[in-house]
Amino acid sequence: MLLQQLSIQGLRNLKPVKLDFAQLNVIYGDNGSGKTSVLEAIHYLALGRSFRTHLASRVINYDSDDFILFGRTQGHAIGLQRFRQGDVTIKIDGQKAKKLTELLDHLPLQLITPESFDLLTGGPKNRRQFVDWGVFHMEPDFFAIWNRCKRLLKQRNSLLKRKASYKEISYWDRELVQYSQQLSELRNRYINSFNRVLQGIIERFLPDIEITVSYSQGWDKKSDLTQLLEKNYPRDLALGYTTAGPHKADLRLRCGKIPVDDALSRGQLKLLVCALRIAQGVHLNTQVDKQTIYLVDDLSSELDQQKRQVLIDQLVDTNAQLFLSVIESDQIKQQTSKYQTKMFHVEHGVITQDN
Ligand SMILES: Nc1ncnc2c1ncn2[C@@H]1O[C@H](COP(=O)(O)OP(=O)(O)OP(=O)(O)O)[C@@H](O)[C@H]1O
Ligand SMILES: [Mg+2]
Repeated sequence: MLLQQLSIQGLRNLKPVKLDFAQLNVIYGDNGSGKTSVLEAIHYLALGRSFRTHLASRVINYDSDDFILFGRTQGHAIGLQRFRQGDVTIKIDGQKAKKLTELLDHLPLQLITPESFDLLTGGPKNRRQFVDWGVFHMEPDFFAIWNRCKRLLKQRNSLLKRKASYKEISYWDRELVQYSQQLSELRNRYINSFNRVLQGIIERFLPDIEITVSYSQGWDKKSDLTQLLEKNYPRDLALGYTTAGPHKADLRLRCGKIPVDDALSRGQLKLLVCALRIAQGVHLNTQVDKQTIYLVDDLSSELDQQKRQVLIDQLVDTNAQLFLSVIESDQIKQQTSKYQTKMFHVEHGVITQDN
């Protein structure tokens, strides 16, 4: 179990509370009671941001100046306080963290919401983030390389906007090419090993459908990136940004020759997203013995009863810690009866644990 305890104060409509969690946790209650807000609190503590809004001030209770979260994980105590003015304080084991990114290592987290098929129907950014989540948690060098690439690209783009000469830009391109290749190599290696796990899970979730996964690195495989950057220079200069590189990478999923978002139903897309997210958790657990937290908001949305059961069973098999939100408790009680489960009822922001 990753997150053993969580205190919440001043977040959305939730009344101050201290919760003790189990491996499998169900949060149930009527519409507007505060279920998603509980998941949002966990997400905030794990990643330093909400999944519902970019504006942290929206997350703070209307009558409060800040919200405070305090979590106990296996071996660590994590505190986060977010003020209305925008300041944030993070403490890990009593020590003030310098950067938000210090949080990320502690609670690997996967989120499944009714909007989750965005991962497949939206732009490549989401899929890049998805891939990078896995690489981040498995490859210790990833973050530094990714960060360097990001900075170099930012700098290159500002030089392009200033209409810098190719000579000036190419001086920085040497480093950019080196880091881009390293980043791409890490992503490629990850996707190859992850794909083996994914195929096994797809068989269970979508037994009649064959999905192929391919990685596109963000520039033509057959081209040398240095030469490509030189060739693209006039176009990049006109546009004011770099058109090829690891920032354009994508994960392509196809059903036969057709992109999955054109071939599958909404329910099937949701199952595929679940399969992808579960595969990452399984892979992380088997490769580096790290556990993952799964937040599943509105479990029932798009899934029939049998598929919900498959999803719960598969998530439990993942050795992950689960937080599922549902409106009605009866059916979920049956579906989780073979597992040790904690049930939390939310009513007008008040959370109580069932006996
Ligand atoms: N900053 C805030 N301060 C106080 N209350 C808020 C704030 N933001 C949202 N709310 C209210 O918090 C309540 C809980 O919202 P939440 O989305 O968590 O409910 P939910 O139980 O997930 O509902 P649903 O089943 O409809 O998804 C809502 O009534 C909402 O109006
Ligand atoms: Mg909700």
